Amino acid sequence: MIGVIPLYDLNWDDEEERAVLEVLRSRWVSMGPKTEEYERALARLYGVEYALGTSSGTAALLLAYLSLDLKGGEVILPSLTFVATANALLFAGAKPVFADIDSPTLPLISASTVEPLITERTRAVVFVNYAGYGDTLPELKALCEERGLLLVEDASHAHGVAYPEGMAGTFGEVAAFSTFANKNLSTGEGGYLITRDEEIYRRAKLLRSHGMTSSSWERLKGEEEFYDVVAVGLNLRPSEIQAAIGLANLKKLPHENGRRAELVRLYRRLLAEEIPDVVVPFPEDSPSAHYIFPILLPEGTDRGTVRRRMREMGVYTSIHYPPVHRFRTYESGLTLPNTEDYASRTLTLPLWGGMGTERVLRVVEVLKAALG
Ligand SMILES: Cc1ncc(COP(=O)(O)O)c(C=O)c1O
Repeated sequence: MIGVIPLYDLNWDDEEERAVLEVLRSRWVSMGPKTEEYERALARLYGVEYALGTSSGTAALLLAYLSLDLKGGEVILPSLTFVATANALLFAGAKPVFADIDSPTLPLISASTVEPLITERTRAVVFVNYAGYGDTLPELKALCEERGLLLVEDASHAHGVAYPEGMAGTFGEVAAFSTFANKNLSTGEGGYLITRDEEIYRRAKLLRSHGMTSSSWERLKGEEEFYDVVAVGLNLRPSEIQAAIGLANLKKLPHENGRRAELVRLYRRLLAEEIPDVVVPFPEDSPSAHYIFPILLPEGTDRGTVRRRMREMGVYTSIHYPPVHRFRTYESGLTLPNTEDYASRTLTLPLWGGMGTERVLRVVEVLKAALG
């Protein structure tokens, strides 16, 4: 019996349980040795000098933006993203400038959608590796280099993916990742940033904990006796429990990403055979972490009815994303035709590493029935 098919499920098991118990029994539960170990493992995975654990992906974005000192500048980003990418920019004092996606079948910002928005006030471009893809990253990196702009990746969807030109998260000055419950690497709540730049790392680390020059753990170990406060920071630290879950879950990431890629191949084949009117964005062979599996419904489809019918048949769906430039807080009369077309027709089907082929078959069958 397949039963209800949720949008995602965790891959946690005894390993995460053991990791949490170990921390609880050690009686050191705030940021400390597990966080340091987690950060070393993350830096190794991406082949970068520095990784910094944070309390959330939003915290990692805020620290990335603050450490680049974007205050007062314009920053170009997609509207097709989770609102945190833009909210953190406002908190960092920058002005978000929304770029359109390249096309509904390549829903990423690209050099051709970003370049016309560059002004003398532009400081940075934020690339979101939507659904795990990075197809336009190399051209955006080249554009940023040519125009003297900083490049940030919001790589929350792209844990541990190798693109032909490098690992996700390593194209710009700094990258932020979310490890929220439904991500390929999951700690429930949490995040991290990675960088090769010592100064960005040093600033982000200071601001993560009140601008203090040492942590409780470092003072306990006797590495520092006192602390000074040299910047106005916040508490954006991860706990040892998050870090321990992250360390356990990180071991599963290659398998998780691999399974997702296989399931997406199956989805693509079945959809092409069974419902050829449905469009699957992105080139079939592009590398991705496959964080989500978004499709485009045929034009004129009543998406609300399709979602309700699917739910009644036990299949949950979602929408990634309502465009940020249309939220009341961001509304300015701007139109982004491709983003709006994509956002009005997209539907996210269930996907997680342990989903299994039977459930993929069932989702396609239910979608076909719901489309009538
Ligand atoms: C693209 C993107 N950016 C930022 C975030 C925010 O991360 P968090 O929820 O961990 O703060 C998310 C997570 O949902 C995301 O998907």
